[in-house]
Amino acid sequence: MVRITINQKTETSMVFATVTPQPTSTTNNIPDNLFTAIEELKQELNAVILAHYYQEPDIQDIADYLGDSLGLSQQAASTDADVILFAGVHFMAETAKILNPHKLVLLPDLNAGCSLADSCPAEQFAKFKAQYPQHIVISYINCTAEIKALSDIICTSSNAVNIVNQIPPEQGIIFAPDKNLGRYVMEQTGRDLVLWDGSCIVHETFSERKIVELKMQHPQAEVLAHPECETPVLRHADYIGSTTALLKYSQHSHNSQFIIVTEPGIIHQMQKETPDNLFIPAPSINNCACNECPYMRLNTLEKVYLALKHRTPEINIPEDIRVKALKPIQKMLAMS
Ligand code: 13P
Ligand code: SF4
Repeated sequence: MVRITINQKTETSMVFATVTPQPTSTTNNIPDNLFTAIEELKQELNAVILAHYYQEPDIQDIADYLGDSLGLSQQAASTDADVILFAGVHFMAETAKILNPHKLVLLPDLNAGCSLADSCPAEQFAKFKAQYPQHIVISYINCTAEIKALSDIICTSSNAVNIVNQIPPEQGIIFAPDKNLGRYVMEQTGRDLVLWDGSCIVHETFSERKIVELKMQHPQAEVLAHPECETPVLRHADYIGSTTALLKYSQHSHNSQFIIVTEPGIIHQMQKETPDNLFIPAPSINNCACNECPYMRLNTLEKVYLALKHRTPEINIPEDIRVKALKPIQKMLAMS
């Protein structure tokens, strides 16, 4: 039997470390061939572009490394580039900066936040944590540097189950901020986790009823889902995993039709790897484009160019927070 303890809903707020003014395209000449211009700037700056699968296809195509949150943090930890342009969201670029305090870390659009990170403000979380003094805190990487600084170990969707399984069974665990991933980890490990009540607006938008309808229309299709989805949706999944795990599954499966229950940006890579397969994006509840992450999609190729050209917007983190946030990230990298 597993017990779910969830805190009260909290007000959300955006907690960004430092906001640098962003140049706009009206004040800049944008070259016709952005791909070439970006390549030239990369050479000039000794820069690397790390991109998440939820970025628009052009950004995915120009990236030096494309991956899920774990792969991206491993790349950030090992790069010898002087400049990291992070084509993803704020918490990802922040993680790269925590690991590389002396490198310039750029995020094409500083408004590229994350609803999940916003659902866990540090002050409320510190009070919540104080109620469980004997528990350790395992936080999903989709959280602010302040939350990481309050955590013992960071995890991602690809290693959460593995990390929880490495903790002695008698040790109490607070799992934050994603209650959906937390429930999935509880189910997989049989552990009793204390969950923070956070969630992702994108992964909560998938409609169970529409997925069932799609399955009836495509009886051969396998359902591939991200563990940030709600439990009733995950019940219909043939395979659950991180974005990289879903991509690999689709490459190696004998099946050729898949219903993809995560942000549809990942389909660009799936289609590139296996062009003959059919990938059907799972629709959201009211057929809006809400299955696209509004934060991830703020980055554009033009903004990537401008960020490299002007070396801004830059991520900065107060040193005391960075040092505290580094430890649980290093722990995760060592345990992965
Ligand atoms: P992964 O890339 O680790 O699967 O996470 C998905 C996500 O929501 C990133 O914000
Ligand atoms: Fe955050 Fe959800 Fe967007 Fe991922 S998909 S960055 S969890 S809002």
